[in-house]
Amino acid sequence: MDYHKPILLNEILEHLQVQKDRTYIDATLGDGGHSIEMLKKGSKVLGIDVNEGSINRALYRIQNLGLSGNFVSATGNFSKIDEIARAHGFDQVHGILFDLGYSSSQLDEDDLGLSFQKDQFLDMRLDKTLGVNASDFINALSEKELAKLIFDLSDEKYAKRFAKAIVEARNKKKIQTTAQLVEVLVSEAPSNYENGRIHPATRTFQALRIAVNNELENLRDALPRAARTLLPGGRMSVLSFQSLEDRLTKEFGQSAQPNIKPVNDKPVVPSNEEIVNNPRSRSAKLRTYEKIY
Ligand SMILES: C[S@@+](CC[C@H](N)C(=O)[O-])C[C@H]1O[C@@H](n2cnc3c(N)ncnc32)[C@H](O)[C@@H]1O
Repeated sequence: MDYHKPILLNEILEHLQVQKDRTYIDATLGDGGHSIEMLKKGSKVLGIDVNEGSINRALYRIQNLGLSGNFVSATGNFSKIDEIARAHGFDQVHGILFDLGYSSSQLDEDDLGLSFQKDQFLDMRLDKTLGVNASDFINALSEKELAKLIFDLSDEKYAKRFAKAIVEARNKKKIQTTAQLVEVLVSEAPSNYENGRIHPATRTFQALRIAVNNELENLRDALPRAARTLLPGGRMSVLSFQSLEDRLTKEFGQSAQPNIKPVNDKPVVPSNEEIVNNPRSRSAKLRTYEKIY
């Protein structure tokens, strides 16, 4: 199986000053790409993920590599990172990583409904204990609410048009699959949508995923809690893939000063070589902060 390729791996290991016998929290374990390299360096890692499938994949890899001795996993939401850390004996750590969003393995999973290139149930919940899925959002919100959600969470300039088309389509038949939604968006988008650069469903799917999983609220809750979980001199890195997450991270960095200082003035982005080898890295932005005291 092809696992998710860890993005900005060397830069993150460097920013977090990963070393033997230090302790780290990987708040977004995913397929374990970053955790595995931390473990190989002899550090101790707590890997958190809200998605059971990710935890299982990472555990399988870590066990196969004989790296389980220094690894602890926890299923949970990083919005409670401090509580999860304490419950697992990681009260104060040298470094914390947030690699936001979803992994390429999750895009391939049949029961998540994250991909607009596959026909699946329109779910999008990474955490199956959440009560509301993407189909619920699509079928229950008013046209105005839908347009606002799509615009606010993805900057989709056709948000109003798409919302109107979604409501017309769902009045005929409830929208329950990714393919149904994609069909509505494609038929409504102009033929030169974004000059063919991205698929017409890209932004709407992003907006729905963010809303279903409360992604912005989780990040907003997590960052100050993560800062409290760091040892003085410890660092936290946030790898984000869209402007709303990056803005939230930047604002946190500004509001948490003077206790928290950015390690770089500007976010670090992938090299051209990494983008060619892994196109998913193209929108990545890495911000790292150090806890001063
Ligand atoms: C981009 S992937 C991480 C990939 C990983 N660094 C690797 O190299 O394999 C993001 C992961 O974060 C998880 N995730 C998203 N939101 C979360 C949250 N609020 N709490 C915990 N995990 C979350 C997703 O389920 C996904 O597995």
